Amino acid sequence: MDFTAKWITGPAKIDRDSEVAPYLFRKQVTLPANVKSAVLYATALGVYSIFADNHKISDTYFAPGYTEYSQRLQYQEYDVTSLLSGKSNFVLTAELADGWYAGRLGLCNMENRYGEKRALLAELHVTLTDGSEQIIPTDTSFEVTTEGPRRHAGFFDGEVYDARLENKIPADSFVPASEYTGKVPPQIVPMQGVPVRLHEQVKPKRIFKDRDGITLIDFGRNLAGIVKIGPLTAKEGQQIVIHHGELVQDGKLYTGNLRTAKQTLVYTCKEGVNEYLPEFCYMGFQYISVEGIDVTEENICAYEIYSDMEMIGSFTCSAERINQLQRNIVTSLKANFIDIPTDCPQRDERCGWTGDIAAFAPTAAFNMDITQFMKKWLGDLAIVQKEVGVVPWICPSNNFIYDRTSTFWAEIYDQCDALWGDAATLVPWAVYQSSGDVSVLEQQYESMKAWVDTEKRLADIVEEDSPRYIWKHGMQLGDWLAPGKDMHGWTASAKWTSTAYFANSAHIVSEAAAILGKTEDAAAYDALFQTICQAFRDNFVEPDGHITDGFQSIYALALRFGLLLPEQRPRALQDLLDDIKARDNHLGTGFVGTAELLAALSDEGKTQEAYDLLFQDTCPSWLYPVSCGATSSWERWDSLCPDGTVNNSDDGPKDMVSFNHYAYGAVGNWLYTRVGGLSMADPGYKTFRFAPVIGEQLEFAEVSHTCPYGTITCRWEKDSAAAHGYIMKFHVPEQTRAIVTCPDGVVREYEGGDYTIA
Ligand code: BGC
Repeated sequence: MDFTAKWITGPAKIDRDSEVAPYLFRKQVTLPANVKSAVLYATALGVYSIFADNHKISDTYFAPGYTEYSQRLQYQEYDVTSLLSGKSNFVLTAELADGWYAGRLGLCNMENRYGEKRALLAELHVTLTDGSEQIIPTDTSFEVTTEGPRRHAGFFDGEVYDARLENKIPADSFVPASEYTGKVPPQIVPMQGVPVRLHEQVKPKRIFKDRDGITLIDFGRNLAGIVKIGPLTAKEGQQIVIHHGELVQDGKLYTGNLRTAKQTLVYTCKEGVNEYLPEFCYMGFQYISVEGIDVTEENICAYEIYSDMEMIGSFTCSAERINQLQRNIVTSLKANFIDIPTDCPQRDERCGWTGDIAAFAPTAAFNMDITQFMKKWLGDLAIVQKEVGVVPWICPSNNFIYDRTSTFWAEIYDQCDALWGDAATLVPWAVYQSSGDVSVLEQQYESMKAWVDTEKRLADIVEEDSPRYIWKHGMQLGDWLAPGKDMHGWTASAKWTSTAYFANSAHIVSEAAAILGKTEDAAAYDALFQTICQAFRDNFVEPDGHITDGFQSIYALALRFGLLLPEQRPRALQDLLDDIKARDNHLGTGFVGTAELLAALSDEGKTQEAYDLLFQDTCPSWLYPVSCGATSSWERWDSLCPDGTVNNSDDGPKDMVSFNHYAYGAVGNWLYTRVGGLSMADPGYKTFRFAPVIGEQLEFAEVSHTCPYGTITCRWEKDSAAAHGYIMKFHVPEQTRAIVTCPDGVVREYEGGDYTIA
């Protein structure tokens, strides 16, 4: 779409928009009587909302969304026909805040990463009954003010809102909008992603006082979202202050893990009935403190906010603690799929950390339809990768890629990392496998290949202890957050784990090439995979399969990624079991190994050992947070100490204790595919497998997954009367086929229908 409108911005005298309140643009619009349809196209440098006579024209948030703004920006298209029907005269208003473009962004905690001026571009296309079209574009006939009721809005800090100004914006504060002539992204593309919307309403679960008598509300579970105030009756000038936090510690709302993010709403009431829902921020919280009003269950509530993806998967079993783990996984999925896949929704970070989604993508793809969401993000990943030459730690890049003025950031962006960079292969592969949508591979193939070529270049750098094909070079995060180690220990493990991920990515590219009919590439990347495996064995593995100086993550990766010879696998498995035993039946994996750990055991026949690890509930384990009452996935195995205090140990970056981080929730994939037993045999589940692994702790498990052909359900339940101790019940949608490992061990195939196998 070619916009004919002009980019408009605020008063000419303002240089740095982040220092002023959101802009409010307005224009009185007169429409002819014979309007047949009306469509509004809009985008912005910043985040915008558009209103016709105070009615927000869309129920979406944070448009135009976050893309790598230095290269591309999305525009949205809204059908406003019914909203404008019967309106011959109305005021078109657009509110424009900093958003990702000019607001404070994580990792560097700086504002104006993409630009200093916010700007708006919009046009209303009105088609008349005679077929003619009128266009109302943004231009300098719009007026603008910075004296609207929203005094401040930012993702990290929240909002300051003065309701007294709602109908009393000083008339003389409106001035003609200026034309914006600064830099704009070279590509303005139709919306690629999934709009962000409000979802579940969450009512206060408990209202109580903190140790100083301030009101606290517990919403019963951790979430990412916003709080709605009202409707409530108040006096003019009465001020309500709301702080958001994930915990209560020592009788007070805990905000120590937010770092510099304020997560605060300051709302000044107008006389009479007040109602307020923030527009340009979201917070990560379970608790809020409220000052300035008497809170009741009726006058305050919360809403979860996330990109509008459909739930397509479910998992339940007979153990309530595992069901809670599954709920926590889904909660942290939603809380971190807010236009881009983020690490956490609360502290001053909220970046598109590539490693986190690389580990979590298969689990996310089972539970929600993430295809469109991920295709947009992967498009940005490819852009950033092209610019920097590597896949960096975060995407979008927060504009470091163009800012080489800081040596520190320039150096970081010349660096890259296994798992984090492997998002380039792992995420499209997970999306393709789950959805069967080959277009994601077509879109990403060059990026996938370029990433493996980068890994090869880095692994080709010969250093001490690091011959060719062993990737040691550079600043790497290694087995990030592995328990019992510190930053030094995590990074020191990188030589092993990076080489393992390099091999796995070469293998994925070879598979993707075969699917896309690129036979030469398929052969070349398969050969590369074999060479890396050989180098891995030559350098790290003794003839009997013992990995010298091994650790849990590398045993698991070596088994899962096929790095060992068949005769070496039993020893690696034994080493893994010995390590688990030496830790008194605890896991020892960080980000790079956790997703593969249980499958490394159960796929080698160690089902009960895998179940025992899953059911471990002292730290470190998946159920430790659950036993502490967690309602979301934690960043660290030990985010909370057994005595209930926040773990502020300094083995990692300061205050790095999020309670809403999805990476360790990657165990979900094992729950669905091994405990539930459902996995795809053909991408998109046209053919699927039902082959549960059954441990002594469970009586039954049930999974469902909606694939493009319908909803698959698979359930097994123990039954002492059954010949093999359990029965299987499953639904095979029409046009799909199930390959079922039956209780008698025989593999049988089933066409569309419902089955019970005893
Ligand atoms: C983020 C992580 C990320 C890591 C890498 C953290 O601050 O929250 O999840 O992957 O940094 O350094």
